[in-house]
Amino acid sequence: MAEKRNASILVFDSGIGGLSVLKEMRIILPSMRYIYVADDAAFPYGAWEEEELLLRMTKLFGTLIEQHDPGMIVIGCNTASTLAINHLREIYPDQIFVGTVPAIKPAAERTHSGLVSVLATPGTVKRQYTRDLIKQYASKCHVRLVGSEHLAGLAETYMRTGYVDEAAVKAEAAPCFVEQDGKRTDIVVLACTHYPFLVNRLRKTAPWPVDWIDTSEAIARRAVSLAENLDFKERETGAPDIALFTSNNTPQEIQRLIVGFGLIGTRYP
Ligand code: DGL
Repeated sequence: MAEKRNASILVFDSGIGGLSVLKEMRIILPSMRYIYVADDAAFPYGAWEEEELLLRMTKLFGTLIEQHDPGMIVIGCNTASTLAINHLREIYPDQIFVGTVPAIKPAAERTHSGLVSVLATPGTVKRQYTRDLIKQYASKCHVRLVGSEHLAGLAETYMRTGYVDEAAVKAEAAPCFVEQDGKRTDIVVLACTHYPFLVNRLRKTAPWPVDWIDTSEAIARRAVSLAENLDFKERETGAPDIALFTSNNTPQEIQRLIVGFGLIGTRYP
């Protein structure tokens, strides 16, 4: 009989974006222990060359798996998932990985105008994975890929300080809004887990109302459906939910933020 898995879920992101996924996971899977990992020493992932980032992530996951032996791993980051999820599954076949990929399929199903935009990091926009999703699920739509250099950083600042430069948010999202043959973009896919934190500002500064699709809840539901078929141990009593930041140098505001999410800051590795 296969050994039972630890009752823990490791949620990973380059920064604080994965907290939007963790929040949903906690609601629908409250019995598990959560280990939140932010590779903030390498933030933003969106700016990395693919080969170097893949190498970094492969090593990092080796360390994380060895140290924490999680029952499941949720990559709460589109930039990381679209690059590395298939590779990580191959290298670490005993692990269960749940990825986050741009919600192109639901967007294609929901759009009325046929004009859909995908707002993501420059990394996610470049990926073959993203292009394949469009080819597979949205070939009948006009999909505009918008690579934003600064939006993830603006979300980090907002979560830390409560301040956001609305004009900058507006400028980053502006290319998402397309008018063509009397039709307008009606769906924008938030294909970076940092962006849901800015959705109110995105809504406020948009030139017309659109449906902003956020994948956090869908990822959490996917994790739950996988978890239903896995055999977990009882959650260890007294083991808290923790957060690790690879820089080991998180500013005080981030420390406060993670406490607010019910996590205890712990040193990496
Ligand atoms: N949160 C990440 C994502 O979902 C991106 C942030 C970054 O560039 O590191 O794509």
